[in-house]
Amino acid sequence: MHYTVPVKGKVHWIGVNDRRKTLFENMWTLERGVSYNSYLIVDDKTALVDTIEDRAAGNYIERIEKLLDGRKLDYLIINHMEPDHSGEVKAIFDHFEGVTIVGNVKTFKMVEAYWGITDRLLKVDDGDELSLGHHKLKFVMTPWVHWPETMMTYDTTEQILFSGDAFGSFGTLDGGIFDDEINFDFFEEEMRRYYSNIVGPYSNMVQKAFAKLSGVPVSIVAPVHGPVWRDNPQKVLDLYNRWSLHQAEEGVVIVVASMYGNTELMADYIGRRLAENGIKNIRIHDVSRTHISHLINEIWKYKGLVLGSCAYNGHMFPLMESLTREIIHMKMKDKFLGIFGSYSWNGGGVKNLMKFAEESGFDLVADPAEIYGKPSDDKYAQCDVIAKQMALKLKG
Ligand code: FEO
Repeated sequence: MHYTVPVKGKVHWIGVNDRRKTLFENMWTLERGVSYNSYLIVDDKTALVDTIEDRAAGNYIERIEKLLDGRKLDYLIINHMEPDHSGEVKAIFDHFEGVTIVGNVKTFKMVEAYWGITDRLLKVDDGDELSLGHHKLKFVMTPWVHWPETMMTYDTTEQILFSGDAFGSFGTLDGGIFDDEINFDFFEEEMRRYYSNIVGPYSNMVQKAFAKLSGVPVSIVAPVHGPVWRDNPQKVLDLYNRWSLHQAEEGVVIVVASMYGNTELMADYIGRRLAENGIKNIRIHDVSRTHISHLINEIWKYKGLVLGSCAYNGHMFPLMESLTREIIHMKMKDKFLGIFGSYSWNGGGVKNLMKFAEESGFDLVADPAEIYGKPSDDKYAQCDVIAKQMALKLKG
């Protein structure tokens, strides 16, 4: 199928949907797929802005040729080198004779390392401009959003921000491509999941990018994943600003590791007590059942976090250990934390969760609750304290 989607002026969306890949970066689940957005500007000069993942290429080059209608491709602008966007760079370079690759010094180091390409390169730096005729492009260096070479391309003529991974989302574009064509409820979860899983560790760099773009009028946000924002671009800018500032919602995520159900009893007990203390957003997850991608998303969303683990060979449960490592890796901040667990030999779950508490810098709302053997009514007192203190902190 050859369909084209005009964005504005001489800019066209030529992205693709990937419904086959099950794990993004071979790690993050893609229950709802993902799109790779690419853009073609057919002006006096022609320019392709980012490509797509090679395994999803399909008729990508044919679609570019159709839009070019016999003209040559002058530029290939690489905002980001991760292979979900640079997957077709070599194919484009080989297919469109004479095309010049536009990128920065760090981009070109990778371009050589990936494909041995060292010629037909146009190096740009922060603030450099490139005129295509009607469209005048300006390049903004935004390192570490999400790789060191990352940059954005700003179309000063139509005020379109080709933002790379920033403002992107998981989820395929099932017909609707623009924000005014979709139900945002579907994308909010997928967008936060994308942010928290992929961009989150670089939140401080997202804030630096915001500072750099401050005062720049943006009428369209055109990311490389998910919807293109033409009706209300401020909405996605506000969401990313909030997430990168670690501004979370009132609510508590309880994640529990339990082999035979004793520690899980404590999770349900704490959840019930939180509800009695007025907390409405409470999510309880079994770390062995819910994928870490969704756990990280929900933990990013809510201000309160309660982690519980049984003891496992003198340590915390391995999957809980993996989750705590990932939370540290993601550089999450500003959480209220509660800890609980149970054991039958000599412990290890709570002891090691307390090490995580210290390392994370989170605000531990109360001493941990630890139960020897099966939980019974007389052993829950510290769970009551955790729930009450957590609610008090959240209600602030
Ligand atoms: Fe969508 Fe960092 O690549």
